[in-house]
Amino acid sequence: MRIVLFILLLAITSAWAGSLAPKLDIGRGGQCVDDPKFMRKNHMKMIVHQRDDTMRLGIRGGKYSLAECVNCHASKKDDNVLGSSEHFCQGCHEYAAVKPDCFECHSSKRKAVAEAAK
Ligand code: HEC
Ligand code: HEC
Ligand code: HEC
Repeated sequence: MRIVLFILLLAITSAWAGSLAPKLDIGRGGQCVDDPKFMRKNHMKMIVHQRDDTMRLGIRGGKYSLAECVNCHASKKDDNVLGSSEHFCQGCHEYAAVKPDCFECHSSKRKAVAEAAK
């Protein structure tokens, strides 16, 4: 009984989420660093850093780089992941009503490949 209820609830919420989900500008395309479904749920844990550790101890180059996400997910129109409700990071976050402060320090704009490689 409980499992039936659970499945029903799951079906309802995913239908609801599907119809309301924002249309996002994915950016460049290609292959995400992990399965998109996994990313949707877990990207925040993958890229978030202990700010103090990073700055004091100089911990760099974790498995996932924020600049990398931005480089691939920036809109082809203006090279940005922020700017409107269709832009990749902003669009979904507006919808989810979260406002990470990352871009107060990190660039939301795509860097030239040469610049990113240095
Ligand atoms: C080389 C390109 C590339 C890189 C690098 C990349 N992604 Fe992706 N990502 C994609 C593509 C393409 C999709 C959509 C795939 C699909 O829907 O089939 C995607 C999907 C996603 C999704 C799910 C979107 C949705 O509508 O559900 C999230 C969240 C995400 N990426 C976050 C990130 C984060 C965070 C990083 C950096 C750690 C990152 N991506 C790095 C190409 C990339
Ligand atoms: C107060 C400024 C500040 C804020 C806010 C901030 N960072 Fe950082 N972040 C830094 C500094 C400084 C470094 C180390 C220098 C570097 O490697 O660019 C860094 C490094 C990183 C790195 C490793 C290097 C890279 O480019 O991948 C990641 C990942 C990262 N930050 C993600 C985030 C995320 C996600 C957020 C938002 C939740 C965030 N940061 C918010 C200052 C900040
Ligand atoms: C498909 C939807 C979606 C996309 C696209 C997306 N996010 Fe998120 N993000 C979320 C949701 C939902 C949360 C809140 C999760 C929670 O509170 O548990 C979140 C939370 C975060 C957080 C943690 C914020 C906090 O204050 O705890 C960071 C950091 C983050 N996202 C970074 C990014 C970056 C960078 C991009 C663009 C490369 C991106 N996200 C794209 C849905 C998305």
